[in-house]
Amino acid sequence: MFTNRNIVLGVTGSIAAYKAVELASRLTQAGGNVDVVMTKAATEFVTPLTLGSITHRPVHTDMFAPSSDVDMEHIVLAERADLVVVAPATANIIAKLAAGISDDLLCCTVLATRAPLILAPAMNVHMYENAITQDNLAKLRARGFSIVEPAYGPLACGEVGSGRLADIEDILGIIRQVLARGGDLTGKRLVVTAGGTQEPIDPVRYIGNRSSGKMGYALAGAARDRGAEVILIAAPTALPVPVGIEVIQVQTALEMREEVLRAAPRASALIMAAAPADFRPQSSAQSKIKKETAKLVLELVRNPDILSEVGGELVKVGFAAESEDLIPNATQKLHQKRLDLIVANDITAQDSGFAVDTNRVVLIDRWGNVEKLPLLTKLEVAHRVLGKVVELLGKGRTQSIESTNW
Ligand code: CTP
Repeated sequence: MFTNRNIVLGVTGSIAAYKAVELASRLTQAGGNVDVVMTKAATEFVTPLTLGSITHRPVHTDMFAPSSDVDMEHIVLAERADLVVVAPATANIIAKLAAGISDDLLCCTVLATRAPLILAPAMNVHMYENAITQDNLAKLRARGFSIVEPAYGPLACGEVGSGRLADIEDILGIIRQVLARGGDLTGKRLVVTAGGTQEPIDPVRYIGNRSSGKMGYALAGAARDRGAEVILIAAPTALPVPVGIEVIQVQTALEMREEVLRAAPRASALIMAAAPADFRPQSSAQSKIKKETAKLVLELVRNPDILSEVGGELVKVGFAAESEDLIPNATQKLHQKRLDLIVANDITAQDSGFAVDTNRVVLIDRWGNVEKLPLLTKLEVAHRVLGKVVELLGKGRTQSIESTNW
């Protein structure tokens, strides 16, 4: 999504300026054209040479640089920008921007641009919490700036508090979200489920499965990057909480059912990438089961099938984890659960299925079209699935249900 997008990266004089190097590198590697604009103070912390070497483009530091290859730099940069992000943003630049001061190249560029603006503040905790800074941020927020809240932790000044530059991943997440405006899922609300549920046996133990949640998280991130509002209903996973996505954490299949049924009526599409357990222990012991007896018998009862219970106008996408007869079994699930699309994968293959970053899937839609995809990353699979969802949303469910022979 960064390919050929023009991103102005403003860097100001905070010790966190060195982290801008990583941000510039990630954006450049992802295909973005990154124009770095540094304040004079920023050049005390990190050199223009470093950022220029990373971005392979000239770094802009001076309004009146005689050697500049761009006339009226601030106007040119401001006009061609798809996005301007200031990271790190000091209290000083925040105050100047809130007041509309334009005494350096970065301030002028921000004032002159019509592109979306993101600020990632970094400063001492007391400077950040100061009512003046907070008022300035509120003012900028009200004017449409996206603010990436600083992280909590040890600060360069020796204090501990909020003021560390947000994680680069979080800044990238907001950048993706902002660039996604106008994407093909803009205005759509998607509910995505992820991970394997845990069905408690006692307060310590549970029945689980090998789903890592990676496919569902990739889908949620990709949908966000195409402009969707995403609600991710997630069973426990080891994955970081994605930025710009509403995450609802659940543990059991019954909890997941409740959240899906609550969210579905307001959604355009539901993608069930989770692996809800089909069975749960009939009762969960209140206290830890001791190993006094030689044998323990667990009685399991069926969990409800969540997908089958969801009705209404929304597009429904299911996954089919199969170890044999992939296409017939998946097609049967598509019909039984009244789905628009099923993503079938052979869980016995080494390079697809659980815990790995790649997946080899077959997409089957409700008209019986079968598309076998090659081995792809889970993110690529997510985009292929979402491409289908976009098509299905365009067709309209009610109308096309009539032509389906479920
Ligand atoms: N699913 C669901 N509720 C369940 C179990 C599964 O909504 N209690 C969903 C999954 O999220 C997936 C689809 O149904 O999108 C198919 O899941 P899968 O485990 O492949 O199939 P099952 O229906 O559970 O059938 P079986 O385990 O017998 O293959």
